[in-house]
This record gives sequence, structure tokens and C-alpha cells, in this order.
Amino acid sequence: MAEGKTTLSVIKADVGSIGGHIKPSQRLLDRVAEFIEQEGRGLLTDSFISHTGDDIAILMAHNRGTDDEDIHRLAWDAFLAGTETAKEQGLYGAGQDLLKDAFSGNIKGMGPAVAELEFVERPNEPFLFFAADKTDPGAYNLPLYLAFADPMHNTGLMLSPSMSEGFQFTIMDVTHTEGDRIIELNAPEDLYDITALLRDNERFVVESIHSRTNMEECVSVATSRLSLIAGRYTGKDDPVMLIRTQGAFPATGEILSPFRLGHYVAGYMRGSHTGPLMPVKQNSSISFFDGPPIVSCAAFCVHHGKFTEAADAFDHPFWDHVRDHVSQKAIEIRTQGFSGVAMLPYSELEYGGIVERLGKLDTKFKVR
Ligand code: 13P
Ligand code: 13P
Ligand code: MG
Ligand code: MG
Repeated sequence: MAEGKTTLSVIKADVGSIGGHIKPSQRLLDRVAEFIEQEGRGLLTDSFISHTGDDIAILMAHNRGTDDEDIHRLAWDAFLAGTETAKEQGLYGAGQDLLKDAFSGNIKGMGPAVAELEFVERPNEPFLFFAADKTDPGAYNLPLYLAFADPMHNTGLMLSPSMSEGFQFTIMDVTHTEGDRIIELNAPEDLYDITALLRDNERFVVESIHSRTNMEECVSVATSRLSLIAGRYTGKDDPVMLIRTQGAFPATGEILSPFRLGHYVAGYMRGSHTGPLMPVKQNSSISFFDGPPIVSCAAFCVHHGKFTEAADAFDHPFWDHVRDHVSQKAIEIRTQGFSGVAMLPYSELEYGGIVERLGKLDTKFKVR
């Protein structure tokens, strides 16, 4: 930890939900909030608890740096306390994302999703906290590419001298589980290399982005894939993301711009389908076909480690229009049920059931 720096840590997990994979109960949310309030005293400068679909996110400000054991343990213990409440209430999937029995120093690789940024606060420090449900970290690939590398969405790349150097993308191969396999590529020179990787949302995922004007980190994405940790389907990865905005970084509206596409992502029902990513209001639940995949965005300023209230970035009449369009896309792809691109390819099918089924059928095939 460096003197005078602020750290933002967001750690999210699904530890139980009402009526299927829809939303956590109020008692569960209250329990997690109460735990953070009590046990975070002296550790945190501020915190903010919210849910997106069935996932609870704990957003924390502190000055202990990224990967801090005490901060990660606090979140882990809060989710354990929440799991107790979920069990008492008989919630569905109690403790779903807590994949390991004992905390071992860093919450990464244990199930919960983590995104963290450490920086010296600017006099005004706006940032965005994104949380998605019923999808995986690759869902952010296209919006990040468009917001940080494409003047069709980020006209500041042309207009603002402080962004004229472009951005450095750090991209992770999430199928490599023995250590982090990463590559650093620069926009604009390496655009075609960046897109060649980012087209494959299930394998190559943007992990972070740095400004090339000041080499400061402005994006941090939770990259964990639960099935690769657990070795089987336990739920979708439902990624969180933090983005610093304005000044040397894109304006908030430039970051939001690509989310109007409602592009098709992996997830939806049973984590096994293709569905459009719908930008929703804070604390939204899940419905049609365990979806559609959703993303929320809370905007804040942080000052001396304290948050302003959250501004709900997708709570605006403009996004109602987008949501209608995305609903249409959600219905459209569901018209073809299990066929072709409506369902994920075999390599991505998260349910063991079909693997067993095809295994049995395999023995019945004859070669004529
Ligand atoms: P900054 O250059 O201060 O980030 O603001 C740009 C802007 O006007 C946003 O649209
Ligand atoms: P979650 O990963 O959000 O728990 O959803 C799991 C699922 O199978 C939905 O159909
Ligand atoms: Mg769930
Ligand atoms: Mg979820």
C-alpha cells in the first residue's frame, strides 16, 4: 500500500436467492450489510451494498491496497454470515458461490468475483461500478473495446488531447488455470490483434485497461470463471467491473454508449444459452428464461475515501427505450429454442447432464 492512495474493492457473490435464481431476500442483504458495518469498522473508509439479480456486491473504499488479506477476509466472512441467513430462510442456492471450505489469504479463485483499483485520488474522482448477472466476464469485452478504442462511441479519442495516446489493454486467457496468462496490447496500433482475441468472449477477457497518457489504471474486471475453479457448473460467473472516468479517461457517457447495443452474450438460462445484455436499474431482479442477462451501473465520486450517494446510470428514459429493444432481441433468439446459436457450443455447456446423455448415446451409434 502506498501513502495517500485510495483503494476501491468490489467483491460479489451469490449466496442464496428467493424463488430460484432471481434476487436475494431483504434479510440476506441486511445481514451482509450489518456484517460489513460492524466488522468493517477501522478497516474501511466507506462501503455500499447492492444486488444485481441474485448476486450481492460489496463495494468498499479503504487504503490498504489491492489483494489485501483483511479486506478479502472481511468480504468472505460477510458472505459466510449471509449464507447462514440464507440457510435459515431456506433460500435457493444458499452459499452457491463459496466454493472453498476455508479462507486462504486471497478470495480470488474461491468463487466470489473481485475487481479492485488503487490510485491517488484526483481532486474530483468519478467512477462507475458495473455488476452483471446471468453472464460471464467476456460480456464486457465488446463494450470495453468500443468505449476505449472506437471513436464511433468514444469521440473523446479525437476531441480530447488527454486521451490522444490511446489505451493499453491487458487481456487474460481464462482457460489457463495454472497462473494468470496475460498479454498487453496497445490501442490504436494493435487494434486488429485486440479484436482477434476479444472476439472469443469465453477464452480471452479484458482484465484491465491503462491510460497511455499517464499509465494509470482505469478499468478492472473480475475475470474468474466458476466452472474452471469448481470443475463443473455451479452457477454463472456474473462479473463486476470498476471504471474511473473523465479527464485522461473516457467520459461516463462514452463508457455507457456501447451498452445501448444489448449485444448477445453467453449465459441466460442454466448458463448455457445466448442472450442479449440488458442495461437495468440498480437492484433489478431476473425473470424471462432466467434472464435476460443484465448489467447495472452505479456512478459515484469518491473523496478522501468517502462515497457520494450512487447515481443510477441506467435509470433514465433513454434506457427504457433500449430495454424494449433488448427485450425484442431476447424474444427473437428464444424463438429458436435449443437450436444452433441459441444454445452455447458443447465446449461451453455448463450442465453435466448433456455430457452424460451424449456419452450414453455414443455407445448406441453404429457405423454402416
Ligand atoms: P473531461 O474532459 O473533464 O473528462 O470532460 C469531458 C466532457 O465534457 C464529458 O462529456
Ligand atoms: P446464477 O449463476 O445467477 O446463480 O444463475 C444460475 C442459473 O443456472 C440460472 O438459470
Ligand atoms: Mg444463483
Ligand atoms: Mg447470479
